Amino acid sequence: MEERIQTLMQEVSAYTATDKAGVENFRLAYVSKKGAVSELFEGMKQLPPEEKKKVGKLLNDLKQAAEAKLAVLNEQLESHTAATFDLDLTLPPVPNTTGNAHPLTLVRNRIIEIFERLGFNVADGPEIESDWYNFSALNFPENHPAREMQDTFFVEKNPDVLLRTHTSNVQIRLLEKQKPPVRAIMPGRVYRNEAISARAHCFFHQVEGLYVNRNVGFADLKQTLYHFAKEMFHKDIQIRFRPSFFPFTEPSAEIDISCLICNGKGCNVCKHSGWVEIAGAGMVHPNVLRNCGVDPEEFTGFAFGMGIERITMLKYRVNDLRLYSENDLRFLRQFQSVI
Ligand code: DAH
Repeated sequence: MEERIQTLMQEVSAYTATDKAGVENFRLAYVSKKGAVSELFEGMKQLPPEEKKKVGKLLNDLKQAAEAKLAVLNEQLESHTAATFDLDLTLPPVPNTTGNAHPLTLVRNRIIEIFERLGFNVADGPEIESDWYNFSALNFPENHPAREMQDTFFVEKNPDVLLRTHTSNVQIRLLEKQKPPVRAIMPGRVYRNEAISARAHCFFHQVEGLYVNRNVGFADLKQTLYHFAKEMFHKDIQIRFRPSFFPFTEPSAEIDISCLICNGKGCNVCKHSGWVEIAGAGMVHPNVLRNCGVDPEEFTGFAFGMGIERITMLKYRVNDLRLYSENDLRFLRQFQSVI
């Protein structure tokens, strides 16, 4: 037995461990209740009393040595882990990256800012809408193609509940509530049943504008949108009005600006015309005013609607609509420095 104790003593003092598992193995083999030392204490019970004293002392020494060794091994392991963790306090800190607003939010905010300075309020309306607000009140005839299934997402049929196809619904909701003068812009999300591609999406964003008062004329519309284009893009921008048709305006126009990419010389973006479309607009149709309880003999107004994706595309040269909703950080981070 004495010999066995001596061998164990040597084993204990020679033991080395480089990792957690090694230290644990040592504990199990020598220190734990099922380890070699406890086993020997068990065996000691059978010894004659005169040997018990001597062996008992040796065994106690072994026990203490094993416990002390375990403490040393644990300490070594800790300092080893600390040493392998590279901490260089002289290095500059990793800079904090802050989030940034989405490009569409940036442009929407800029549009609001420009029109607020002209005295426009911001108004809001529902995205789930009845046929009346999205179509009928806006003077869409009963059989107009925009009411058909391929353009509109219907939530319910008869009576029709749908996802609004444009922000023009807010014109009606506003004019119903508020007597002229009304001067507001209405940003929001709209939905159309279209196949998703680089140029079309099933949801996008618009900003509607409306000014109804006494003696509002086409010249006011022209000047307002000219001012907007100069503020949004740059001072030398040119603007043109092309005759068009919308059920809710008469006369109606589409608004083009001179192409920012080629300065009017002709390129892919403007399809070699030198002009790109940014909005639809016109004088509010008398039927629309009547539908909202406003007397068209007393009040006139202009309205416009523009696509936020389109303006963002022109401002930041984004060439694919899908990028806006893919949440790709490589795309989104490019707008970090833009306000
Ligand atoms: N609602 C039209 C669209 O989605 C855009 C529009 C055109 C709005 C002319 C207007 C307007 O207010 O006067 O295509």
